[in-house]
Amino acid sequence: MWVSYDDNGLDAHKGRRYWKKVLHINMATHSKQRAVTLPVRADTLAALLQGRRSVRQFQDRAVDRAFVEQILEAARWAPSPHGRQPWRFVVLTRPELKTLLAERMGETWQRNLEMDGQGSEIVNARLDKSRQRILKAPVIIIPCLYLEDLDRYPDERRQADETTMAIQSIGAAIQNMLLMAYDLGLDAGWMCAPLFCPEVVVDALKLDSRLVPQAMITVGYAAADPKRRERLPLSSLIVRFD
Ligand SMILES: Cc1cc2nc3c(=O)[nH]c(=O)nc-3n(C[C@H](O)[C@H](O)[C@H](O)COP(=O)(O)O)c2cc1C
Repeated sequence: MWVSYDDNGLDAHKGRRYWKKVLHINMATHSKQRAVTLPVRADTLAALLQGRRSVRQFQDRAVDRAFVEQILEAARWAPSPHGRQPWRFVVLTRPELKTLLAERMGETWQRNLEMDGQGSEIVNARLDKSRQRILKAPVIIIPCLYLEDLDRYPDERRQADETTMAIQSIGAAIQNMLLMAYDLGLDAGWMCAPLFCPEVVVDALKLDSRLVPQAMITVGYAAADPKRRERLPLSSLIVRFD
């Protein structure tokens, strides 16, 4: 399949288009293809939704690029305000970039933890745990907000609402990725760290300054089955039904 893309991934709407051949992913035959190589994790959507879990420790095993592309392809189909897809993705697999990112974000986190009055031993332990999590994740996807294509309003209120819609839709895109990863026999974890220092991530990775990193999605093969988090009963979530 051939798709158009722009030179930096950001200005597709402005007509600077190039053409690139990408992996053809036939969604209709996807489960049949997966069954050949991977265990079927869930037969129904409900089972898939309930089976997905956050994984924070991964095996030392690389993830095929084709799988990463399928995960990103799933994000592409998320709903978004006006269909503008106000998100872009950074993918990291190289150890030196993960190390750089962990160090740069760690500096911010250290300052925040010290500001919270945490003792140096606890600060160091938490920083080390977070650093290890980043370094040991085979793949890290950083979903970034990209607000340039959204509508512009003269008043702050509606402009802020427009941004909120973009944030809501990046959550939908991330959930699509988590579910696709799980369906492919992989696992994923969500780390919110970039949200607290987006400018640090942009600077460390030399990203376009219009991108606002929101999270890190770590992807790999689970090292062990994680403990499941309980859910509130449905009856306590529905505050009114008519
Ligand atoms: C916006 C958001 C931010 C999160 N940030 C983190 C995080 O920084 N570190 C982490 O370990 N998990 C993080 N999580 C994952 C949640 O802890 C996890 O989804 C929750 O405990 C439910 O567990 P489950 O995903 O296994 O069902 C985050 C989830 C969301 C939606």
